[in-house]
Amino acid sequence: MPREEDPKEPSGSPPSRRQLLLAGGVVSGLAAAATSVPLISTFVAPVLSSAGDESWIPVGPGDAFGPDRKEHTYSFVRKEGFHESLQVRRVVVSRNGDEFDVLSTKCSHLGCGVVWKADEKKFFCPCHGGEFDSEGNPTVPPPDKPLKRLDARLNASTGQLEVLES
Ligand code: FES
Repeated sequence: MPREEDPKEPSGSPPSRRQLLLAGGVVSGLAAAATSVPLISTFVAPVLSSAGDESWIPVGPGDAFGPDRKEHTYSFVRKEGFHESLQVRRVVVSRNGDEFDVLSTKCSHLGCGVVWKADEKKFFCPCHGGEFDSEGNPTVPPPDKPLKRLDARLNASTGQLEVLES
């Protein structure tokens, strides 16, 4: 039985521009799928919390922290009904024995992200120039309230630092 041939595509001719674009799209899609799966699985913490609930969220190994304040980022997924959203938090952590001090980097003025300046032992907010001392107390206005301090604990069975999220 003779093979059917596309009259627009002569056999033995080089691939058309359309075929090349289609093949390129398929290869790009496969490459994106192959790289996105590992990124998602390492980036999203395997923790879900429901709206209105309080949950202890693991943020990292307790051994990673010491007496000097250190910036740290963690994430978790918040479930609200059928909606899930990725929550990313940046905090500044110090440790004294089994006690952890975890300060939010959300400015108490209008919520911008403050920066921990370790060499000057202070927090600086780039939005309006506000500053906080190393304990998170406001020192340069406009902020007039301290940075939020999160409830924190060491999970003895996992060795993870956990913070209470609501
Ligand atoms: S938001 Fe930080 S000083 Fe205004």
